[in-house]
Amino acid sequence: MKKENIYILGIESSCDDTSAAVLCNDSILSNVVADQKIHAEYGGVVPELASRAHQQNIVPVVHQALEKAGISKDQLNAIAFTRGPGLMGSLLVGTSFAKSLAFGLNIPLIDVNHMQAHILAHFINETDHKTPPFPFLAMTISGGHTQIVKVNSHFNMQVIGETIDDAVGEAYDKSGKVLGLGYPAGPEIDQRAQRGNPKAYKFTKPKVDGLNFSFSGLKTAILYFVQRETKANTNFVQENLNDICASIQYTIIEILMYKLKLAVKQTGIKHIAIGGGVSANSGIRKALKEAESKHGWTTYIPKFEYTTDNAAMIAIVGYLKYLENDFSDFDVMATARLKL
Ligand code: KG4
Ligand code: ZN
Repeated sequence: MKKENIYILGIESSCDDTSAAVLCNDSILSNVVADQKIHAEYGGVVPELASRAHQQNIVPVVHQALEKAGISKDQLNAIAFTRGPGLMGSLLVGTSFAKSLAFGLNIPLIDVNHMQAHILAHFINETDHKTPPFPFLAMTISGGHTQIVKVNSHFNMQVIGETIDDAVGEAYDKSGKVLGLGYPAGPEIDQRAQRGNPKAYKFTKPKVDGLNFSFSGLKTAILYFVQRETKANTNFVQENLNDICASIQYTIIEILMYKLKLAVKQTGIKHIAIGGGVSANSGIRKALKEAESKHGWTTYIPKFEYTTDNAAMIAIVGYLKYLENDFSDFDVMATARLKL
């Protein structure tokens, strides 16, 4: 007997990307992302502007996602949306839109935890991507979070380490600001790092207990380093930008890999997945690939389009919850802080 197809619309609006995706079972039919260029002028996300841009983007983005998927809204089985964590004003736009559409279509509403979605993006069915077996370790590295999570099953996750201050993406973006780069600086630092010498400059690594991280000290160290060197040579940054970026990236990857190795040692789990914006980084991808042959790990690296914020990852969580009949009440509220 042929299995019935389940169509889920996913909506993501937790920060500065408005995204909608349509999934047929665990396969993606469309994944539309409208990013908001406006924040670059301010060197960071301005919550009020983000919320306003979501309001402008959400209808066309959802429309485009349905059109690209080649289905009509009446074929949808459920609507999944990001409930949190994120910026309240941004979350509210996606939440109210998802509620009204699900109510109008008389179909179930499914709330999704954004951080869980970064991890469960690995369950999207892709021909060239294998799915991690339970239990596995997931390191979520983004502009808002840095966590190591023990994933026992789809919806049983345990945070075993996290940042005590800045997220790793923030370390990239704030270092970029010191160097005069645009926002977000992660991708440019990564590009430049590949052309520079990673051992040119040495930054001290933080000493944090157990599996926790700290990145605020690194940002300050880079600031003082740049101030000191520019005093001696006003063109220091311009003349050595690639080497500075390579050295910053080298330090960050060393910190992440050190904690991952510790997590493997403590748990005995050697299946390692990454997720979140910083998982697009070439340095962490290379380090994980090397760890496969060096330490016998099996690593799971998401496709680029599922690294930064996107609705495909929200839709896959929607599908997994749909299979468990795990639906939300219509009075569900957006929540800026939401634990795993
Ligand atoms: O997951 P994401 O889109 O949003 C949050 O939930 O925070 O992550 C955005 C973060 C930004 O800090 C950005 O600089 C960083 O991901 N990022 C990168 C790279 N691509 C994006 N950081 C380092 N290397 C990259 N290639
Ligand atoms: Zn994210």
